[in-house]
Amino acid sequence: MIPFLNLKRINQAYEAEFKAMYQRFLDSGYYVLGNEVKQFESDFATYCGTKYCIGVGNGLDALTLIFKGYIALGQLSLGDAVAVPANTYIASILAIIHAGLKPVFIEPYADTYNMDVLELEKSYSKDIKAVLVVHLYGQLTHMSAINTFAKAKDLLVVEDAAQAHGARDAFGILAGNCGDAAGFSFYPTKNLGAQGDAGAITTNDNALFETILKLRNYGTSSKYVNDIIGYNSRLDEFQAAVLNVKLKHLDDDNLKRVEIAKCYLSEIKNEKIRLPFFSGEKNHVFHQFVIQIEDRVNLIDYLKHHQIGCLIHYPIPPHQQEALKQYKHLSLPITEAIHQNVLSIPLNISLSDDQIAYVIKTLNAY
Ligand SMILES: Cc1ncc(COP(=O)(O)O)c(C=O)c1O
Repeated sequence: MIPFLNLKRINQAYEAEFKAMYQRFLDSGYYVLGNEVKQFESDFATYCGTKYCIGVGNGLDALTLIFKGYIALGQLSLGDAVAVPANTYIASILAIIHAGLKPVFIEPYADTYNMDVLELEKSYSKDIKAVLVVHLYGQLTHMSAINTFAKAKDLLVVEDAAQAHGARDAFGILAGNCGDAAGFSFYPTKNLGAQGDAGAITTNDNALFETILKLRNYGTSSKYVNDIIGYNSRLDEFQAAVLNVKLKHLDDDNLKRVEIAKCYLSEIKNEKIRLPFFSGEKNHVFHQFVIQIEDRVNLIDYLKHHQIGCLIHYPIPPHQQEALKQYKHLSLPITEAIHQNVLSIPLNISLSDDQIAYVIKTLNAY
């Protein structure tokens, strides 16, 4: 059996480091916003190349707090519209809604699944004040084109980097440093995954940084002094300690992912299967390896029969979800076709060479 993902095996690779870390964590006697969080914030900002990093509770909060931060600073107003790719995971849309803003659904490129810059230009209206770019499945879109358009129209650019830790744009700039602010998730399945919920924001904007520092901790500027209406969304100290162990391995882990992806791309040869687009550069860290197939149900049955796990990211597009029924009338054919045909096959650092070969052989025989 090849499970879609074996988180136990992935974390076991660093077991000795985790055990030492836990002893250190326990002995510290400091369990909320302590040195582990400080260390992670400093190291992750350095890693991404940004001035600031703020650890928060999860990826949804990271994105929501960015928008709420801009509202607190007067750079966005309640009711402003935010352009977002229509085929994203629902969390991107929820962040916009939770902040009191309005999503405008933009069709993606059919091959990279990223925001289509021409579609953004076509859908632009004066109500749009920000763009939420999503580096879906681990791949960056043409960030320079997005930033040029945003500058011309005076829009904020926010990155949803939940799936793209360590991915770079065409100029080598890391996800998290390609816009005005970025939200990361460290949900356990992510390329940089904690052992529970965790998230972070990166930015070079000092005012935004100071505001979100308060927002994540009851609006506090110093102990029991509250400047603004805040929340409790602090990066957990234990999760920060886990991330401090795993951040050191992120680049190697991403390299392994890209190596597996290259094997799949060169060796899966089946006319029924459309393989993901890969430019061969560092703009993709293969959070998911997403194929497209017209008879998806049959392929899922076939893979199940051959004991290979697979998942659909995602079966229903956000605008067709019951929770977002006010957008059900929208017609987004590219997005809808993607959601009908995509299937993610196993790609993670715990796969052995034999397992990779078995996945390839099985798909080629379909
Ligand atoms: C693209 C995207 N954005 C945001 C999130 C939200 O992250 P979290 O689950 O940590 O809240 C996720 C998580 O799955 C995601 O994939």
